[in-house]
Amino acid sequence: MHRKRAVLVIVTSLLASTAQVRAEDDDVAAGQNTFVIRCSECHDITAGVAKIGPTLKGVVGRTAGTVPDFPYSDAMKAAGFAWTEEQLTAYLVSPKTVVPKNKMNFNGIKRPGEIEPLVAYLMVAGAP
Ligand code: HEC
Repeated sequence: MHRKRAVLVIVTSLLASTAQVRAEDDDVAAGQNTFVIRCSECHDITAGVAKIGPTLKGVVGRTAGTVPDFPYSDAMKAAGFAWTEEQLTAYLVSPKTVVPKNKMNFNGIKRPGEIEPLVAYLMVAGAP
């Protein structure tokens, strides 16, 4: 009786953690979709490939405005912080609030539910 209950607890928690991994994968996939639609016109996420914006490969943990040879605005060069999950979220919701006078011509992600998956994707694809 007790053993059955223990097995049940183990099976239930295994199922729960599988569901969580699946939810995270879904987030990353949804975020990639947003990236393609809203960012890829200006950003590649391949090392060394600049478009209108700098490559986002390796952006996680990188100091803002420091991809060599990319013509950043003075504002981005002077920003001085590193791109963490929190900074990426704040910047992508309102770029001009976080780095006033930066030259990324993008209004921000305003639709509820879009920012978390996008940042989840960047944390994976934009890792160093
Ligand atoms: C119209 C073109 C354009 C679009 C669209 C755009 N960006 Fe940018 N992005 C830029 C430019 C240009 C810069 C450099 C800004 C500066 O130097 O002031 C930049 C800078 C950045 C930076 C800082 C990079 C660094 O090396 O410090 C991040 C992060 C970023 N963009 C993410 C995104 C994401 C994610 C999206 C989609 C939601 C996006 N951008 C959409 C053009 C764009």
